[in-house]
Amino acid sequence: MTTEQMTKTQESLIASKPLKDQVAIVTGSGRGIGRAIAEALMAAGAKIVISDINEETCNQTATELRESGGDVMGVQCNVTVSDDVQKMVDAVTNNWGRIDILVNNAGITRDQLVMRMTEQDWQAVIDTNLTSAFKVTQPILKVMSKQRYGRIVNIASTTGVHGNFGQINYAAAKAGLIGLTKTVAIEYASRTITSNAVAPGFIDTAMTQAMKEEARNKILEKIPMQRMGTPADIANAVLFLSLPSSGYITGQVLEVNGGLYT
Ligand SMILES: NC(=O)c1ccc[n+]([C@@H]2O[C@H](COP(=O)([O-])OP(=O)(O)OC[C@H]3O[C@@H](n4cnc5c(N)ncnc54)[C@H](O)[C@@H]3O)[C@@H](O)[C@H]2O)c1
Repeated sequence: MTTEQMTKTQESLIASKPLKDQVAIVTGSGRGIGRAIAEALMAAGAKIVISDINEETCNQTATELRESGGDVMGVQCNVTVSDDVQKMVDAVTNNWGRIDILVNNAGITRDQLVMRMTEQDWQAVIDTNLTSAFKVTQPILKVMSKQRYGRIVNIASTTGVHGNFGQINYAAAKAGLIGLTKTVAIEYASRTITSNAVAPGFIDTAMTQAMKEEARNKILEKIPMQRMGTPADIANAVLFLSLPSSGYITGQVLEVNGGLYT
């Protein structure tokens, strides 16, 4: 199959709206990878909840997606605050009555060498990138359990699988997220709920644009595909794992990294 044929196959899959009547929540979807994931799920027919700690980008993205024809709710939500999460879950179930897809995408970095890492920066990253996924997944599993259907995709990182210089907090949080992913997969398989992780490599977003040019160039040299990934590269993987037809895939980590690790 040529790349063009593959793109056409994917386009016709999306055109068939395989996620019609499904409801998807994507945390941290005001911008970056989260927004691209929301757009991909929306293109496949899902109703979308744009959720972000940043009220401005949250509302703006929700408005833009609605204007492009989607069924979209914007809910400002700090995923580290349980009350915020419960309010979001209540708002979505009151409005749409179900939650089929959860993408735990919200995340931050506070990079530092092991010896210079402060307890504050350690804790901030653990809270936002790991504990939040527990806080969001637990109430949503209650909804999914009643439906006896769900797709959970957690956005981990190659750093969580392989470690990375200057990222002890981030690596520990993302490795923990992979453990969470696998445990949910085992406990909820009998309710037709799948739980998988997508581990992006080096993706061109505000998060990586904040890196020093020298560090970015060093990583680029190591990527066999000779380019950074795009948010759409990650969104495609999340869409695949969110499909009803991906129901026998659970507890897995899909690395999307241009061959950086093989
Ligand atoms: N960019 C990369 O190269 C890369 C690589 C591997 C993994 N990731 C992961 O992908 C995810 C998205 O990253 P991105 O590159 O799009 O980053 P980004 O900074 O562009 O977007 C992250 C979004 O999360 C939101 N957010 C932060 N804290 C939050 C909180 N407490 N509650 C709710 N929302 C919050 C931010 O406001 C922002 O909109 C993150 O989990 C990140 O760790 C990114």
